[in-house]
Amino acid sequence: MKVFVTGGTGYIGRVLVPMLVKVGYDVTVLDREFLNYDDVNTEYDSLDVKIIKDDIRYFEPSLLRGQDAVVDLAALSNDPIGDLDPLKTWDINYIGRARVARLAKKVGLERYIVSSSCSVYGFREDTANEMSDVNPLTTYAQANVEVEKDNLKLGDSQFTPVALRLATAFGYSKRMRFDLAINAMTLNVFKKGKLGLMRDGEQYRPFVHVIDISRSIMTALESERELVHSQIFNVGSASLNVKLKELAETVRRTVNPSSTIEWYGDPDRRSYRASFDKIENTLGFHTEVSIEDGIREIKEKLRENVLDDFPETHTVEQYKKLINQRSHNLGIDKSNIIL
Ligand SMILES: NC(=O)c1ccc[n+]([C@@H]2O[C@H](COP(=O)([O-])OP(=O)(O)OC[C@H]3O[C@@H](n4cnc5c(N)ncnc54)[C@H](O)[C@@H]3O)[C@@H](O)[C@H]2O)c1
Repeated sequence: MKVFVTGGTGYIGRVLVPMLVKVGYDVTVLDREFLNYDDVNTEYDSLDVKIIKDDIRYFEPSLLRGQDAVVDLAALSNDPIGDLDPLKTWDINYIGRARVARLAKKVGLERYIVSSSCSVYGFREDTANEMSDVNPLTTYAQANVEVEKDNLKLGDSQFTPVALRLATAFGYSKRMRFDLAINAMTLNVFKKGKLGLMRDGEQYRPFVHVIDISRSIMTALESERELVHSQIFNVGSASLNVKLKELAETVRRTVNPSSTIEWYGDPDRRSYRASFDKIENTLGFHTEVSIEDGIREIKEKLRENVLDDFPETHTVEQYKKLINQRSHNLGIDKSNIIL
């Protein structure tokens, strides 16, 4: 099967793409490479993965010819990045990904998978499932809601769109993100012997390891059409809906038991939990990697100096730099577009 992965040099892409190749997929990646990782070329070359440096908003539709499926990961990839430039976020995360799905259908691809987020549920008392009302609180979350709506509507007898609402990722990737909660906590305890935590730590959040995210995408590619057709699935596991203070304690214990937690801010009770019954019961998908295993993996990579606190690992800061470099472009002259 030929799979076209947008955003495939990003955090999830760097785990997903080798996994797809290993099981025999023929993979092409399209990415603007905003996060600039040189080693990706060597790695993908050796895997026979073609990288097209282009933008989901402008690429030539003919690039999709001959492909069977799209995994659409390209996006400004969390709430704080989205808040840096809400118009750009809308342009890429909604208009851009809606374009990819329309083109995929037009060119005759069979399947399209978009990476949405559990953040569409906003903060709430109950545990949200795919039938719950959404409550998107940021441009990033709103763009996910709109792109799900538009793209899932495209489903017909030839074309199967699927939306995966991912919990917050953790774990090691060659394009590392230290702007994600568990990864950041692990780094801080390892480097500084302390981690900062917003009071009172009673807030719940859902998490999922990046390997399990990649497995869920493969499941969505391989499941029978009727099971996934125009469907939304939360991706994670009930056991990975955790209170932040328990999470911080787990990181502290696993990385350095003599480290400390430093509390800050006024008590913030904004919580959310998601239900993962649908993906478990419909597709038989279960996560495999625990939070402790993810923390240990990052700790090992830090210890071996495979990983460090490089500027590119702080995604928000990296995009801030790009936005500051942005000249006078209004999205008209492609050659001027920095972001
Ligand atoms: N990592 C998480 O915790 C998480 C959780 C929920 C949803 N998601 C979603 O999963 C997807 C991938 O996330 P990630 O963690 O790998 O993020 P990432 O920021 O590491 O990767 C995103 C990739 O998209 C590329 N990109 C951005 N805009 C583009 C454009 N206009 N054209 C082409 N390429 C573009 C970037 O260069 C980058 O390589 C995103 O849609 C993100 O919103 C991620």
